Order: sequence, then structure tokens, then C-alpha cells
Amino acid sequence: MKHLLSLEKLPLADFETILRDAKVFKKERGAHKSQPLKGQTWAMMFSKSSTRTRVSFEVGISELGGNALFLNANDIQLGRGEPIQDTARVIGRMAHGAVIRTFAQSDVETFAEFSKIPTINALTDDEHPCQVLTDIFTFEEMRGSIVGKVVTFIGDGACNMPVSWIFAAAKLGFELRIAAPKEFQPSAEILKRAGGEIVVTEDLKSAASGADMLYTDVWVSMGKEAEAAERIKIFTGYQINASLVKLAKPGALVMHCLPAYRGKEIDAETFEANADTIFTQAENRLHVQKSILNWAVS
Ligand code: CP
Ligand code: NVA
Repeated sequence: MKHLLSLEKLPLADFETILRDAKVFKKERGAHKSQPLKGQTWAMMFSKSSTRTRVSFEVGISELGGNALFLNANDIQLGRGEPIQDTARVIGRMAHGAVIRTFAQSDVETFAEFSKIPTINALTDDEHPCQVLTDIFTFEEMRGSIVGKVVTFIGDGACNMPVSWIFAAAKLGFELRIAAPKEFQPSAEILKRAGGEIVVTEDLKSAASGADMLYTDVWVSMGKEAEAAERIKIFTGYQINASLVKLAKPGALVMHCLPAYRGKEIDAETFEANADTIFTQAENRLHVQKSILNWAVS
């Protein structure tokens, strides 16, 4: 039984399989040779908002022959306190796989354990594995192998995105630099667990210098809305803009997982100048997640 719960737990060979097959799914869209989800129903349990993840999984599941059943976690009994263990045992007896977006990482892990169906983490407070797999796919599609390259993440260094980047960097072998304010840097425990070549600094200029990719994410992640005013004060300055891009390698990619808040983590001009990369990155969620689904059932 395969689950994609975190990049920490994904073996390197599986990283490579998913990235390799995503190329085929992209190329053959509309004419897939196999329908690996034929006759299957996949439950999509979401406790947080989503545009890209929801649409790309619903379209992807259907294009692979399956049926996606979207469940807003607040509309099912889970939202009224039914335990995740019981929800998992019910869904596991009816659906063939699950895609879950929620708060606690332990909830996706418990769901996988109790449901006994392939389970995919579609974002938790701790990780966003589907996004980082897609980001790496997009980088490699545009620039070749990411191995040995320099990726600089700017902004909230303690949220789900940088954590998935940390585990990917350690596993695949590229340098990751995280420029974040002191109170929003990744924990020493995660850095130790991951290993690899990870630089953590408050100095975004040195972090951007010579980088092959500049990457950012929202300053206020889902669930942190109450801290918005405080965060905006602390993160001011941690922005991708033209002067920062000048410090990176000529031709460096600017990427954003989206949604983007112009004037905060990226300025409007830099966003538009890199919109083609950023929306290719968004589109690639579809192709990479098809590859993840196919991997999960094979
Ligand atoms: N990047 C991403 O996961 O977007 P959504 O929140 O819209 O799914
Ligand atoms: N860190 C962001 C990612 C959104 C795709 C969040 O959790 O809201």
C-alpha cells in the first residue's frame, strides 16, 4: 500500500518515478494509454480552502478513469466531532483512495493507517508534498536537473512549503537556502532530521546571490489568519522584487506556489514578469498529481 504523506518518507526511487512519469502524463494529456483509476472512486476530504489542488486532483482523477468525491470536512460528521479513525474506516470500505487537506499531519497519517486505502497529503500544517514535487518537475522541465543547483526560499521559513523543500533538497541533492526572520525559521529538529545542504539566514540578499531559483509563498498560511497583522510587520522586506532578482543567477526562475499577494511576498511587476513560469507551475500540478495517483495504485 503506497501513501504520499510527506516528502520525508518518500524514497528517492519513488521521487524519480513520479517525476519521470509526470512527463509522459503531460505529453499524453487527452490520450492516456492507460486508465489506472478506472472504476475507482477517490474521496477528497478538504478542511481548508483550495483552488489548484482541488481542481487539479478532480480533473486528474477523472482523466485517469476515476471518480472524485469532494467532501468538505465541515459537511461530513468529522466536522461535528466524529473521530478521524472512524471516518477513515468508513471511507476505506467504500472509496479506493483518499486525498486529504487538513491542519494536523497526524490526521493524514491516522487516516492512512485506519482507512487502509492509498492516501495523499494535499497539504497539512507540516508539509505540501504534491506542490514541491510539482515545483521540482517544473524547474527540471525548464532548466534541466535540479541536482547541484541552488534554490532560495524567501518568507515564512517555518510553514509547510519550506519543510517539504528541506526534505526534497536533502533527498535529491541540491542546495536549499531559506531566508526568513528569526522567529519564522525552520526548527533545528527538522533540519537535523533531514540532513542535506540547507542554509538558514535572515539575510535575503546573501541567500539570493547566485541562486538558480527564487521561491516564495504567502506570509499568512491558512489557519494563521489571527496573526496576519503581526506577520505582515515581521515579514516586511522579505519580498521577491526586481532588486532581489538581480542578485540571482542570470535567467534564474522565480516561482510561487500561489495564491500570491502582490506587494507582500512578491511585487506586482516581478510577478507579472514571471507569470508564465508561475502558471506553468500551477498547471503542472495536474500532470504531476496524475503521476502520483498512478504511482499510488501501481
Ligand atoms: N498551491 C496550492 O496548493 O494552491 P491551492 O491552495 O489553491 O490548492
Ligand atoms: N503555506 C501556504 C501554502 C498554500 C498553498 C498555506 O498553508 O496556506
